[in-house]
Amino acid sequence: MKKGYFITFEGADGCGKSTQMNLLAQYLLKNGYEVVLTREPGGKGLGEKIREILLNYDGEVSPRCESFLFLADRAQNIDITVNPAINAGKIVLCDRHIDSTVAYQGYGRGLDIEKIVYLNNLAVNGRKPDLTFVYDIDVETSMKRVGTEKDRMESAGKDFHNKVRHGYLELAKQEPDRIKVVDGTNSVEEIHKKTVEIFNLLLDRDNFENR
Ligand code: TYD
Repeated sequence: MKKGYFITFEGADGCGKSTQMNLLAQYLLKNGYEVVLTREPGGKGLGEKIREILLNYDGEVSPRCESFLFLADRAQNIDITVNPAINAGKIVLCDRHIDSTVAYQGYGRGLDIEKIVYLNNLAVNGRKPDLTFVYDIDVETSMKRVGTEKDRMESAGKDFHNKVRHGYLELAKQEPDRIKVVDGTNSVEEIHKKTVEIFNLLLDRDNFENR
C-alpha cells in the first residue's frame, strides 16, 4: 500500500518557500508521485474567507483572535484537504503550517508558546508533518523581497520579523529530525537541489516506495 506524506514549507515572508514548494511538486510529479498542494491560511472554501480577513482586515485584531483564526483555518485544512489526501497515499505539500503560528503568534506577538503548541495540537488532531523545510533569510533580505505592497502581517515591523526568524531557528533546534533549515539566500536552483536532497533522505530513512 502507498504511504502518504505530509511536508510543510516555512520561513519569513519572501523567503522563497512557495517557489521551492512548487519546484518540489514538479520534481515529484515527474517522478510519478501523486501530489496535493495546499496552504495556510486559505486552503480552499471557508479557508479562503478566513485568509482574506487575516491578511486584509484593517481594524484592530487582538493577537489571541488572530491566533484562533489561523487555528480555525488549520483545522479545516487538515480535515478537508490534508488527511483525505494522505489517507489516499498522496504527498501533501503545505505552504505554512503549525510552525508559522509558533513563530509569528508565539515568538513574534509574544503569546505563550506552550499554549500555542497545545492549541496547534487541538487544531491538527494528531496529524504532524513528516518533514518541514525552513528557508532562512535575514530580515533585511525579507523586507527587500516583500517590497512596499505589504499585507497586514508583513507590515508588522523589523523587530517583529527578527523575533519570527529567531523562533523558527529555535524550533529547528528543538526538532532537528523533522525541521530542516535551508539557507534561503542561495540561488533558486541550489536551494531546489538541497530541498530534493533532504526529501530523498526522508525516503531513504523510511524506505519509502511509492513510484
Ligand atoms: P502569505 O501571503 O501566505 O505569505 P507568504 O507568501 O509569506 O506565506 O501570508 C501569510 C501570512 O500569515 C504570513 O505573513 C505569515 C502569517 N501567518 C501567521 O502569522 N500565523 C500562521 O499560523 C500562519 C499560517 C501564517
